[in-house]
Order: sequence, then structure tokens, then C-alpha cells
Amino acid sequence: MEDAFGHRISYLRVSITDRCNERCRYCMPEEEQAWFPKDEVLTYDEMLRVLRVGAGLGIRKVRVTGGEPLTRPGVADFCAQISAIPGIEEIGISTNGTLLSKLENGVTMAERLVKAGVRSANVSLDSLDRAAYQRSTSRDLLPKVMEGIDAAIAAGFRSIRLNCVLMKNQTEREFVPLMNYAWEKGLLLRFIELMPVSTQEVLSEDNFLATGTAKQLIEQHTGPLTPLPDFKTNGPATYYAVPGTEQKIGFIGAMTNLHFCETCNKLRLTSDGKLRPCLGSWLEFDLRNVLRSGCTDEELARFILGVVERKPKEHDFRDNYQPNRRMIAIGG
Ligand code: 5AD
Ligand code: SF4
Repeated sequence: MEDAFGHRISYLRVSITDRCNERCRYCMPEEEQAWFPKDEVLTYDEMLRVLRVGAGLGIRKVRVTGGEPLTRPGVADFCAQISAIPGIEEIGISTNGTLLSKLENGVTMAERLVKAGVRSANVSLDSLDRAAYQRSTSRDLLPKVMEGIDAAIAAGFRSIRLNCVLMKNQTEREFVPLMNYAWEKGLLLRFIELMPVSTQEVLSEDNFLATGTAKQLIEQHTGPLTPLPDFKTNGPATYYAVPGTEQKIGFIGAMTNLHFCETCNKLRLTSDGKLRPCLGSWLEFDLRNVLRSGCTDEELARFILGVVERKPKEHDFRDNYQPNRRMIAIGG
């Protein structure tokens, strides 16, 4: 399926819960605890139905997100069921990493996910300093994340990427430790510009660090980074090679890269059943209502195509975007 601007839509990000065991400042303020009531959250069966119909329309890649997706019971079985859908070629998960090493009958969560067909894991990691990590997430869980990343490596994911959200006066001192850590562990590190997606307005001159600035600061340590225009990972990141090593690092410049949306292939399904054609737009369409009103698969397909037709050309983050929903509700 294609939108009005010729974007071929093949990627669905599914947020399976708005809950999280951390409280990142830019995502979910500590005090805000109004989770969706249970009956407003789609069941796994409802999500699987959307995915089956979506696969029929050309969805090939699925990313399971949240909130923190690993807090929802049954997530590995859900992923196994996604794997069984004809047409779905790739499943990834976005996680804060804190639960990847959790054991159930002697098997780690990471192993259960790999067994369920999940091939890639994006792990959020803003800091390698325990105190700084605790300040930015309100939880002292860095050791768990380290354990989780090791569990993911041991479990054999094909790709593990570390995502660091850029915060001025904070991330600068993490560049070298994060790059060394990623290199030692053989993982791909990406730096993401802060987006105005939380209801708590954290985006300001005081804490916004542009990818271009981050790149210059990194180059003070590494020397000039070499652009890798042909290295693509199915997303909007731009990659560079670090001189003198084989290391690649990525930058996701959602705010400053004016070409950011050009290759967008995504739709998002929120945990409360809204289909969103763009992370950075108010537009959302109530799929839950359609699902629960006893629609046929054809009606569901038509609804999805209608949403795709209304996918905006690009996000509104640079214009007047006022967040109306928490990131956690949308699914990163
Ligand atoms: N800006 C940029 N990235 C964000 N994330 C959460 N909130 C924001 C924000 N305001 C990231 C998380 C995680 C992914 C799911 O989204 O750090 O890596
Ligand atoms: Fe949780 Fe991720 Fe949001 Fe942090 S960014 S509070 S880990 S959902």
C-alpha cells in the first residue's frame, strides 16, 4: 500500500502497553500514572487480527513497542504468533532492556523472544553512569540493563541497537563511554534527537542537542566521521564510520534533518487501538471501535487503507506541534 506521497507502507509498530517500569524524563513524568483501563487496551488477538489484515496489505515488518513491551505478560507467545502470520518477514522489539535477562523456568526473556522469531532488539540506553542513569529514568536499573544486553547477545539476536536520546549538558559526557561500550559488545549505537512527544514539555533550548552538534562533539574525540550513505537499517538514521575502527554510529535527526520523513514506511498502532499514520502528527484513527463493532476483514482493510491515504507528507514537530499524548501511549 502506498500513501498520497508515494511512500510504500510496509512497517507497523505495535505498542502493546502504555505501562513502563521506568520514568524517563522526556517520555513519562514521574507523577503521571493514569494508565489506560484494561478494557481500552487491545487484546493480543485483536492486535494479531490487525497484523494479519495488515500483512495482506503489504506489512512485512513489525516492531513491538510500548511503554515497556516486556512488562506485558505473554509477550513472547504474542511474538511467536506474529511470526506465524504469512507475509511478516521481520519482527523487532524496542525495550528499555531492564527485563531481557528475566528468568522464567531457567530461560531468559531474551531467549524466549529469539525463539519466538524476534530478530532485532532496540535497547534504550542514555547513560553508562549509574547515577546519571538513575537521574534520567528515575530508576536505579542500569545494572539490570547491562545484564539484559548481555542476555540479548547470548540469546543470538541478529541485530541489537543501542538508542541514546540526546540531551544537552548530559549526553556530551556519555559519547566516549557509550561508543566504547557499543564497540566492545559489537552493537550498533544511535543518537536520537529529543522530540516533543511527552506531555511534559522538556523540549527547550536548554536541553535540545542537535545531531549535527553531537557529531561535531564526537569528532573532537574521534576525528572526522565518514558518511555511509549506502548503509541503511530500515529507518531514518544516517550512519557514519568511526575513523580507524570498523565501528558505525547512527544519528536520528527527527527535528533538524529536513529529509527525515522522505523514506517513511511506517504506521503505528497504539495500545488503546488508535492507528496513527505519523508519530509527529495529531492525526489518529480509532481502530478499536471498528474492531469491536464486529467488522469484517474487508472493512478492516479498507479502514487501514483510508488511514494510509491520510498519512501526512511529514511530521509537524517543527511547526506548532503540541503533544496531546504521551510517547508511552503512542509507542516510540
Ligand atoms: N524524544 C526522542 N526519543 C524518545 N524516546 C522516548 N521519548 C522520546 C522523546 N521525547 C525514545 C526512547 C526509546 C524509544 C522507544 O523512544 O528512548 O529509545
Ligand atoms: Fe519507559 Fe521507554 Fe518511556 Fe523511558 S522512554 S519511560 S523506558 S517507555
